[in-house]
Amino acid sequence: QKLDMELESIEKGGFEHFMLKEIYEQPRSVHDTLRGRVSAKQGHLVLGGLRQYLHTMINAKRIIILGCGTSWHAGLVAEYIFEEFARIPVEVEYASEFRYRNPVIYEGDVVIAISQSGETADTLAAIELAKSKGAIIFGVCNVVGSSIPRVTHEGAYTHAGPEIGVASTKAFTAQVTVLSMMAVMIAYRKGTIKETRFREMLVEFEQLPDKIEKALQLDQQIQYIAEQIKDADNALFLGRGYNFPVALEGALKLKEISYIHAEGYPAAEMKHGPIALIDEAMPVVFIATQDSSYEKIISNIREVKARHGKVIAVVTEGDAEIRHMADHVLEVPAAHEALMPIIAVIPLQLLSYHIAVMRGCNVDQPRNLAKSVTVE
Ligand code: G6P
Repeated sequence: QKLDMELESIEKGGFEHFMLKEIYEQPRSVHDTLRGRVSAKQGHLVLGGLRQYLHTMINAKRIIILGCGTSWHAGLVAEYIFEEFARIPVEVEYASEFRYRNPVIYEGDVVIAISQSGETADTLAAIELAKSKGAIIFGVCNVVGSSIPRVTHEGAYTHAGPEIGVASTKAFTAQVTVLSMMAVMIAYRKGTIKETRFREMLVEFEQLPDKIEKALQLDQQIQYIAEQIKDADNALFLGRGYNFPVALEGALKLKEISYIHAEGYPAAEMKHGPIALIDEAMPVVFIATQDSSYEKIISNIREVKARHGKVIAVVTEGDAEIRHMADHVLEVPAAHEALMPIIAVIPLQLLSYHIAVMRGCNVDQPRNLAKSVTVE
């Protein structure tokens, strides 16, 4: 028993919880995800696991992305980037729904299955179904040698390293990194992005670890905000475009480990329901970085403030406008909007972590949840 506890504390590397350790590992884990794959200097982007079916992907009429939980959120980010860069229509599906609704799959359709553990029962079953109908399956998994990579045609590992905390953190940033690399590579080969954009993106990829590092420096400020909102019963997370899936992920993190009821919404949908819930007791977290929907999200912030909601906004460094509206701003480094989810999610992970600790919750082993769900 004593030995087990000592071993565990060594594994946590000085951090109080695995989740916090894994959040802090992200500059390193994203670096590992990129290593040997991206070189801005040489102008190359290679994914060793995407060779034989590269042309199938380039010529795909559509892509179906499958996953559960956080992996499904990574899929939603990928949908935006694949459609914008590679101009391939994408459908993102919960594996559990897909497998039971007699989906239309054509011979040669491309399926991308995302799973940290590589063992999720619903994802595995959805893959088998798609495969039996002639789809080409590409896996994006973290655990090497797990079940899903063994049944896919090709795949790319995320290389985030072992993730112990039940709430997924570094696996998510690694998944989005791999999926973005795929989209950029396919787009370039397909000719839907030009050489200059391709090169710009390579530089953007290489800058990710440093930008994540900077986002982690918000920790003190986030602890202060956590203190202010830790007793809330509900919370709302809003984002648009690439940041919409980040809102979903921020809400999922909070409910998973702190048991605060939280919902993520596309900010424009707020007026079709959630706005009715806003009062002075409701913290509303905006992911409002400077991107193509910036002006729109500013008006959403105004709408929330007009109803006395408490606004916490993740903004781009140097943002001069939102600080006059929000109760708290968290500044993250600027990045290409397609890669912003990888940076913007960091403060949300820390926020849910600190709130959960303050509420006395078991952060690494939240009630009723399992790290990998191998049953239906
Ligand atoms: C469980 C975990 C989540 C995870 C989901 C999908 O619910 O608690 O953190 O996102 O399963 O797991 P996978 O291993 O397939 O990514």
